[in-house]
Amino acid sequence: PHEARIQALLGRMTVDEKLGQLQQLAWTGATGPGGGQTAAAEKAARRGRLGSVLNIYGARTTNTLQRMAVEKSRLGIPLIFGLDVIHGMWTTFPIPLAQAAAFDPAVAERDAEVSAKEARSNGVHWAFSPMMDVTHEPRWGRIAEGGGEDPYLTAALAAAKTRGYQGEDLSSRHRLAACAKHMIAYGGVEGGRDYNTVDVSEARLRNLYLPPFKAAVDAGVATVMAGFNTVSGVPAHGYRHALTEILKEEWAFTGFVVSDYDGVEEMIVHGYAADRADAARLAFDAGIDMEMASTTLNEYGKRLLRSGRITTAHLDEAVARVLRLKFRLGLFDHPYADEHTAIAGPTKASRAAARAAAARTMVLLKNEKSTLPLGRSGSIAVVGPFADSTDLRGSWAGTWAEAYPPVTVLDAVKDAAPKAHISHERGVAASGRNTRGIARAVSAARATDVTVVVAGEAATLSGEAAVRSDLGLPGAQEKLISAIADTGAPFVVVLLSGRPLTMEGWLDRTPAVLQAWHPGIEGGNAIADVLFGTVNPGGKLPVTFPRTVGQIPLYYNHENTGRPYDPHNHYTSGYLDLVNGPQFPFGHGLSYTTFDIGEPRLSVSRVRAEALRKGDTVEVAVPVRNTGRRRGDEVVQLYIRDPVASIVQPVRRLSGFRRVSLGAGQATTVRFRLSAEELGFWTQDPHGRFLLQKGEIQVFAGNSSRAHQKRILTII
Ligand code: IFM
Repeated sequence: PHEARIQALLGRMTVDEKLGQLQQLAWTGATGPGGGQTAAAEKAARRGRLGSVLNIYGARTTNTLQRMAVEKSRLGIPLIFGLDVIHGMWTTFPIPLAQAAAFDPAVAERDAEVSAKEARSNGVHWAFSPMMDVTHEPRWGRIAEGGGEDPYLTAALAAAKTRGYQGEDLSSRHRLAACAKHMIAYGGVEGGRDYNTVDVSEARLRNLYLPPFKAAVDAGVATVMAGFNTVSGVPAHGYRHALTEILKEEWAFTGFVVSDYDGVEEMIVHGYAADRADAARLAFDAGIDMEMASTTLNEYGKRLLRSGRITTAHLDEAVARVLRLKFRLGLFDHPYADEHTAIAGPTKASRAAARAAAARTMVLLKNEKSTLPLGRSGSIAVVGPFADSTDLRGSWAGTWAEAYPPVTVLDAVKDAAPKAHISHERGVAASGRNTRGIARAVSAARATDVTVVVAGEAATLSGEAAVRSDLGLPGAQEKLISAIADTGAPFVVVLLSGRPLTMEGWLDRTPAVLQAWHPGIEGGNAIADVLFGTVNPGGKLPVTFPRTVGQIPLYYNHENTGRPYDPHNHYTSGYLDLVNGPQFPFGHGLSYTTFDIGEPRLSVSRVRAEALRKGDTVEVAVPVRNTGRRRGDEVVQLYIRDPVASIVQPVRRLSGFRRVSLGAGQATTVRFRLSAEELGFWTQDPHGRFLLQKGEIQVFAGNSSRAHQKRILTII
């Protein structure tokens, strides 16, 4: 029925009205250069020359603008309102990288469901999320927004988050259209510098960067956003191979592609488009359907049509894609938000969901002498720049959420241990060289049974354009930790960050470290839940933690050199001046209990390639037992390696994971299925070719990327 209505509308639209549907303007300039385009948006809405507005929310505000489009414009086509609801609207969940650490897609799905309810009730229809840029670059601030370094994990999260936002029915008042971003290879930016160059082979494009996008498209994602980077010499906004050949043709994507903020016009600065008309043509040809912020297609579209450089058929197709989403969202029938039922802030239930989610994302990196969990009696010093800080929301928790500051660690510790004596000293600030407060923090540490140092990086140090060249703790925080370590008294470091931090200077002298990311509105409570053992931590690293910045890029699923590192052989691949390998590998994470993961068992040891191609799978059963004395979660991880292939394969790659909760002494068997999709790979063919080759596949099971339990599967 939508298609007939779309065609009927197209038949009535002028060229200007059609081009207008492909324009998105920014209500405020909060997320890009320049100011807001408020006045222009109102004018264009009234004239029926606007498709969408971003950076706008609030039932009344959106309704006022929507009325201009629906009631004043000739055809009354409603606007779509988009917003960067990345990890929560009012109820800030942990950052997406943290959500990846949960190794539990249900966490991402729940965030998206809560976000969708809050945002849709406030007039927003469309979230610019999930971000799914796989990256090997912890310097890049946008690592905080995605799922880390692994395509398989990121794909699972992309699908879960898409489901969470969109549900079954986009016209529901509880749902948002999702946006898979940024296509493509944005995570590969050289040096981690934002908006930078990426040179990528077809094989890497398909094996590393595309799988999450494919998963999102398979999950029905409504829209896709282009990236600010270049891809092998072409700005991603002009990269027809990805946006049209792969996305729209190969994958038959029926949604629309939106540009990033000014991304179309920036092709001129890249040195790819000659002028604004050329930028419009190149972007449109490449597959961009809607232009965010810059207005080249609207200004030059008519001229391009007249000169035959773009066609009416293509214009109609792009407009149809935009209208299709407006119909799916039910906007033609219900264009307005209900001003009486708009959700005005976090609820008890949404806070509980955020707290549970945050606790699931925490990764216990180190825990010597069972320093954790803490007892609830005696005395505890809570020190460090983030001890009483509300800076726990992370990047992309929009200004709208500022009215709801997170629970601090200090308050949460007091709450969790009312009988304990709690003292507090900041010691040092989050940045800056001032060390005068360290002495007081040391006295507090000396006077108490245990000290919790809450350290890390401020939210502003990660996210878009927030790139760091040094990944150590900012300011004098390392000095604070060293001074506490010098006391010899037990202490714990809780680390808040939007990326892997380096810990070389202090890790050896620190008995316990809890990676808490930027945990969101209930962050303090979730940290206390883990510190006191109400929740037994079960998160795992979704990204390799390097020892030093000099090792970057460092990732687990790398290819082998002809001379892998060997400490006894000089002519091998490594660094002269450091211990080789990561500080913590991908998939690492401890628990307050211990687990034993047994040998994987295969349902068959030989399988025909032909059968796999037809859809057969091989079952891998992995036994896991809680060998400790308390209930806990373990993430059983499955990795495979194809040791001989027509293009060199990663030394291992994640091909399955399951987070299980087991009581003391309890055991279970986790079952995975390996299909052609996991066992094959994309080759270096210019148009992409998926290969499933005969030969041995090594199958590893364990609880990190160092998994050592192994079996061989032979493909015949
Ligand atoms: O969604 C974002 C994108 O990720 C980066 N540039 C701005 C967009 C809209 O705010």
